[in-house]
Amino acid sequence: MIKQIAIDGPAGAGKSSVAKMVAQKLNYLFVDSGAMYRCIAALAIRKGLDQNDTAAWLDIALTHKIDLEDNSTIVKAGGIDLTDEIRSPEVTLATRFAANNPEIRKILVNRQRQIGQSVSIVMEGRDIGTVVLPNATCKIYLDASSSVRAKRRYDQIIAKGLPANLQEIHQAVVDRDSSDKNRKVGPLKQADDAVYLDTSDMLFDEVVDKIIAISNGQLND
Ligand code: C5P
Repeated sequence: MIKQIAIDGPAGAGKSSVAKMVAQKLNYLFVDSGAMYRCIAALAIRKGLDQNDTAAWLDIALTHKIDLEDNSTIVKAGGIDLTDEIRSPEVTLATRFAANNPEIRKILVNRQRQIGQSVSIVMEGRDIGTVVLPNATCKIYLDASSSVRAKRRYDQIIAKGLPANLQEIHQAVVDRDSSDKNRKVGPLKQADDAVYLDTSDMLFDEVVDKIIAISNGQLND
């Protein structure tokens, strides 16, 4: 039987690394849905598009096949490898113009649904349990306080030897939450049947083990 684990939550809640590890342990495919929205923004920036040129942004989504290879560790759009580019601060900031466009969402949601047709998956994003995979066998809403999420981002940047300002990062996290929660189509929202997990005071392995236990029906909360 094909199983689908949907993991949603705000930026910096640890969805990506947790979902990747859950997928690895269960031998499921890991799908990073946010990478698809990021690809549209990266290509729009490459083309020098105006952020309000919704038709041109939509055209990118219509004309570029997005490939999430090797458990989403290699991300390509129209054959162009965008793996590193989509993580830049510039792309992170611009991605909301793809995510807030209902027509683009329709296209990407359809593609995300197709990926989950033939293999068991762990898919993470903002609207996976509510819109993309409403019948997922397991739904998790991963959360953490904005200050904990900002500190995690800050530590990641510092660990790379790059300069970072905690206050600025915190503001960016709060801004992204607001954009993600308030868009009209596919907003970030906990599905009614999702299990809520606040990871603020949890260790990485604890979160992974708890999700696996929930997906195995061993825990209900
Ligand atoms: O998960 P990640 O931070 O890479 O996602 C980048 C952006 O893409 C999010 O801030 C959100 O606006 C958008 N996104 C979305 N729906 C998803 C996944 C991501 O709108 N399923």
